[in-house]
Amino acid sequence: MFPKLCRPLSSINFRTVKCFCKPRQLNKYYNIIARANSSASSSFLCDKNVIFVAGLGDIGLDTSKELLKRDLKNLVILDRIDKPELVCELKELNPKTKVTFMPYDVTVPIAESKKLLKKIFDKLKCVDILINGAGILDDHKIEATIAVNYTGLVNTTTAIMDFWDIRKGGPGGIICNIGSVTGFNPITQVPVYSGSKAAVVNFTSSLAKLAHITGVTAYTVNPGITRTSLVAKFNSWLDVEPDVAELLLEHPTQSTKECAASFVKAIEKNKNGGLWFLDQGILEDIKWDKHWDPCI
Ligand SMILES: NC(=O)c1ccc[n+]([C@@H]2O[C@H](COP(=O)([O-])OP(=O)(O)OC[C@H]3O[C@@H](n4cnc5c(N)ncnc54)[C@H](O)[C@@H]3O)[C@@H](O)[C@H]2O)c1
Repeated sequence: MFPKLCRPLSSINFRTVKCFCKPRQLNKYYNIIARANSSASSSFLCDKNVIFVAGLGDIGLDTSKELLKRDLKNLVILDRIDKPELVCELKELNPKTKVTFMPYDVTVPIAESKKLLKKIFDKLKCVDILINGAGILDDHKIEATIAVNYTGLVNTTTAIMDFWDIRKGGPGGIICNIGSVTGFNPITQVPVYSGSKAAVVNFTSSLAKLAHITGVTAYTVNPGITRTSLVAKFNSWLDVEPDVAELLLEHPTQSTKECAASFVKAIEKNKNGGLWFLDQGILEDIKWDKHWDPCI
C-alpha cells in the first residue's frame, strides 16, 4: 500500500515513523494533497464555506463578487472597514450564498483571532478556504506595514490551525494568501511594503511544504499593479521618491475586475504551493528557482 501511495506524492515524508504507524492518517494526507493538486474545476467552489479577510477592499470586493458567481454556501467577510451598503450589495447578488460580515482587525492578539474563528466554526461547522488579503502601503509606517501585511496574516493563519490541523483531529483546509509581485521583485522605493510581501510568499511556501503534516494546503495569489486606492497615492521609504505612485502608474496596470477574475481562477486551480502571478488580466503559475535546500 505504501509504495503505491508514495509514487505520485514525493512531498510526503515517508520517513516519518508516525506515518507508518497510522496508515489511515497517511491516507488522509494523501487525499488532502492529491485533492489540492487536482486539476481545475469550475464547480470547485460550489457549496464551499469561505472566509475572506479584507473582502471589502478594492480587489477584495470585486473578488467577493466573482466568488459569488460560483454558488458558495457561505462567504464570511472579515474586514476592518465596515461598509454595510457593500455587504447588502453582495448579499443580493446570489441567493444561494449566505454572505456574512464580521469586523476584524488583523493586528489584534492571536487569542482574539481564535475567538472570532471559533464563533464562525461553531456556526458553519466547517470552513473550506481562508483568504488572507489585508494590506496597507505606506513606507512611512514601518511597524504598521509589517503588523498588517505580515504578522496579521501569520496570526490569522496560525489561529485557524486550531480548527484545521489534522494532528488535532481537524479536517485540513486551504489557505489562499494575497502576496504581490513585489514579493518576487521589490518596488525598491517601498522596501518595507515589498519586504512584507516577500515574507508572505516565503511563509506560504513553507505552509505548502508542511501540508503533509498539518493537512492544510496553501498558495499565494500575487497581483501586479492593480488600479486601487492602495496604489493611487503612497509614501516611499525615507521619501526616496516623492512621486512613486505617479511613476508606477505610468506603466501598464490592470483593473480590479481583471484581477478578481484571475484571482478566482487561481482559487479554482487549488494548487498546493502555487505561486500565482496575476498581471494585466493574465494568470500565470510562477516557477521559483531553488538556490538552497535545508535537506531536512
Ligand atoms: N493594488 C495593487 O496594485 C496590489 C498589488 C499587489 C497586491 N496587492 C494586495 O492586495 C490586497 C488588497 O489591496 P487593494 O489594492 O485592494 O487595496 P485596498 O486598500 O482597497 O484593500 C486593502 C484591504 O485590507 C484591509 N485592511 C487593511 N488593514 C487592515 C487590518 N488591520 N485588519 C483587517 N483588514 C485590513 C482593508 O480594509 C481593505 O479591505 C492587499 O493585501 C495589497 O497589498 C495590491
